[in-house]
Amino acid sequence: MEGLCQHYRFFFAVTLQVLLLARLLQLSYSSTTTQSFHFNVEWKKVRRLCHTKPLLTVNGEYPGPTISVHEGDNVEIKVTNSMAMNTTIHWHGIRQLRTGWADGPAYITQCPIRGGQSYTYKFTVIDQRGTLLWHAHYGWQRSSVHGSFIIHPRMPYPFSVPIQSEVPIILGEWWNAEVAAVENEMMLYGGGPNSSDAYTINGLPGPLYPCSNKDTYIQTVEHGKTYMLRIINAALNNELFFAIAKHALIVVEVDAVYTRPFTTTAIMVAPGQTTNVLFTANQIPDSSGMFVMAVTPYITTIFPFNNSTSIGFLKYSNFRKETSETPFLPRSSAFHNLPEMRDTAFATRFSKKLCSLASTEYPCHVPKKIDKRVITTVSLNLQDCPANKTCKGYEDKRFFASMNNQSFVRPLKSILEYHYKNSTAFSLDFPEKPPNAFDYTGVDPVKENMNTEFGTRLLILPYGTKIEIVLQGTGFLNVENHPIHVHGHNFFIVGSGFGNFDAIKDTKNYNLVNPAERNTVAVPAGGWAAIRFNADNPGVWFIHCHLEEHTSWGLAMAFIVKNGPEQSQSLLPPPEDLPSC
Ligand code: C2O
Repeated sequence: MEGLCQHYRFFFAVTLQVLLLARLLQLSYSSTTTQSFHFNVEWKKVRRLCHTKPLLTVNGEYPGPTISVHEGDNVEIKVTNSMAMNTTIHWHGIRQLRTGWADGPAYITQCPIRGGQSYTYKFTVIDQRGTLLWHAHYGWQRSSVHGSFIIHPRMPYPFSVPIQSEVPIILGEWWNAEVAAVENEMMLYGGGPNSSDAYTINGLPGPLYPCSNKDTYIQTVEHGKTYMLRIINAALNNELFFAIAKHALIVVEVDAVYTRPFTTTAIMVAPGQTTNVLFTANQIPDSSGMFVMAVTPYITTIFPFNNSTSIGFLKYSNFRKETSETPFLPRSSAFHNLPEMRDTAFATRFSKKLCSLASTEYPCHVPKKIDKRVITTVSLNLQDCPANKTCKGYEDKRFFASMNNQSFVRPLKSILEYHYKNSTAFSLDFPEKPPNAFDYTGVDPVKENMNTEFGTRLLILPYGTKIEIVLQGTGFLNVENHPIHVHGHNFFIVGSGFGNFDAIKDTKNYNLVNPAERNTVAVPAGGWAAIRFNADNPGVWFIHCHLEEHTSWGLAMAFIVKNGPEQSQSLLPPPEDLPSC
């Protein structure tokens, strides 16, 4: 990571005045506009792959409606639950400064919204700009209850190419089965979950799947123009590769933070991550006028998975000669821009190219010194089967997952509410290092005792703690890539690597100049990632693997950030309509 980013160090030589002027300019743009939205969570019959089924949607739309606001706006989204199950909505990547009540993860920051009830999420978008997503944060509902959250900047983009249009590209998964049933079955018997039946581009599987020709995403472009794609991975259980045949992509932003631009043939995007790319329609199409855009999983698992590819098309408007409305099946060579599904080398190279812009207007606030380092394993587990139970995991045991051998149990009450009322209902002793040191990535994948413990142990941090968390993958069952998401904070990925983290050797190679700033990090399969942030947002925050099956198995934890000494550093009181359990 170091070598690739270091030459941007000179950006830091700018004078303080320039920096302050830029900030002032930005503040003077701020408005106090309130943007209001209404989400109705409801069932809607949707047909894909020759199957019609009731799908959980927002306002009957799949994917759900786009939230489009400006930096600095106040946002109010009234969510009405019009179904029998509980629900909550999470605004993934929104910092929620002092407004943890609006974050959304069920039983962490709120009790669920029960059937027939409503809750209005109120927050302000502060110092963030770009593409994020929103999604349900209850069970596996986010498989269809998701959409884009777009924050338009108050200042011009830091790149000067004129952009013809900005297009959200939501990558997802379609299941013929009822997703809640897949989850229930998995939790009942502890086996691996069934996989989805198709990948989708803006809800459409495309012509490589049965009955799906008409469900194909087509983006019209004009020759010579430049476009911005706001790519979102809303899939439940898969990291994804995305590419457009013959077109180079320039990455300019990830997780609503500008990056140092770089050109690539394809991107890797983990669940919960977003990537803005620019591309210019500068190729000469054949008589079809089309180029393929394609999405396929990046695989590190040994569990069965959906190994299919979904395609859509770029259609050059001023080239198309034929009148047929049916998309053409591409020649296989048209896929040439996608890496192989198991191409970890590509995924690694891609991640290492990501750096903060670290410019005068968009400085990189990575903590250079830390107050605390927490090292935690992120691991799968194989649990002994309880007596008189059927277990369908490996060797008649059942699968779980954990951080520092704690498999997180979500309580049936809101941790934030208990914390606000100063209750001691939870133990504040999340282990700050692995309980037993072992050769994390070198263990025999199935022979060790892999049992985990269960509980709701929290990490507590004083306001303003500069913390480093080292996320250490393990080889239990299999080395896998885990996309770890931190709520309430962006973090900086100061280092990553394969094998076991070495506090002496590896810290020497940290990038403390312009590391990528994100809300979700793909921890390398069989390796580790070190993230740093300033814990300056009072509240209770969830950290978890954004592969939903791993969250269900307990690959999660939560941390408390205490109030600071100032009023402005304290959690706001709960809203009156906060749901109760
Ligand atoms: Cu996007 Cu806690 O998740």
